[in-house]
Amino acid sequence: MALRPYIVGNWKMNGNRAMLAEARAIDRGAQRYRSVQVALAPPFPLLALLHDEVSAIGVGAQDCHAAAKGAHTGDVSAPMLDDIGADFVIVGHSERRRDHGETDAIVRAKAEAALAVDLGVIICVGETLEQRDAGHAEAVVEAQVDASLPCGEGAAAAVAIGNLSVAYEPVWAIGTGRVAAVEDVINMHAAIRARLVAMFGDAGGKVRILYGGSVNGENASVLMEAPGVGGALVGGASLTADAFLPIVAAAAADED
Ligand code: 13P
Repeated sequence: MALRPYIVGNWKMNGNRAMLAEARAIDRGAQRYRSVQVALAPPFPLLALLHDEVSAIGVGAQDCHAAAKGAHTGDVSAPMLDDIGADFVIVGHSERRRDHGETDAIVRAKAEAALAVDLGVIICVGETLEQRDAGHAEAVVEAQVDASLPCGEGAAAAVAIGNLSVAYEPVWAIGTGRVAAVEDVINMHAAIRARLVAMFGDAGGKVRILYGGSVNGENASVLMEAPGVGGALVGGASLTADAFLPIVAAAAADED
């Protein structure tokens, strides 16, 4: 059975306690679209607070450390996220790869740490503008998929129950208002799908591949209808219910 479309709001380093009202409004709105799986990833200080305010949507973190505990000042582990009720974690976002020097190997280790405590994992991949202009976009993303995704039995089990998703986020489309051409999204999602099937067999055919990069209420329908697109990872347009819920509605309409 195909998994529901997955619409995830990544609040990045935005938000304060006053914004929990937006999360409540998103939660209320999401209850009208049960055919869509909706989730928010707020910054760490809001995670437990937001978790206690919502019931219909998932709540996750934007990162975790690969180790379960120890001397890693400022970091947060996957078991800690699990302990406060988080459902999932995003790993390998391009902003973390850029700002914190995260390599594919680090991203894989984080993903495996999250799967070890049964958190859902969203693994981000995507090429830079220079890489796309040089004609290397698919090769770059395929290599990221091969080296960033978890492997081993834990990974196969997570894939089988829909706990692993991949987000294709072209770096040049993030926060720029410049959304990727639908044809390029379709082609890249097909390339990622081929890698997933090579890694996980038939089960890899069901992994949700989300698109991220300047998704908003206007462009969401076209993107959600595109073959191979299993949802969206949304930044700026996830910060208010007014901006986010039309994206959820677009994903629901595609299900009808
Ligand atoms: P924007 O939707 O703001 O472009 O951000 C996309 C993103 O990076 C989500 O993780």
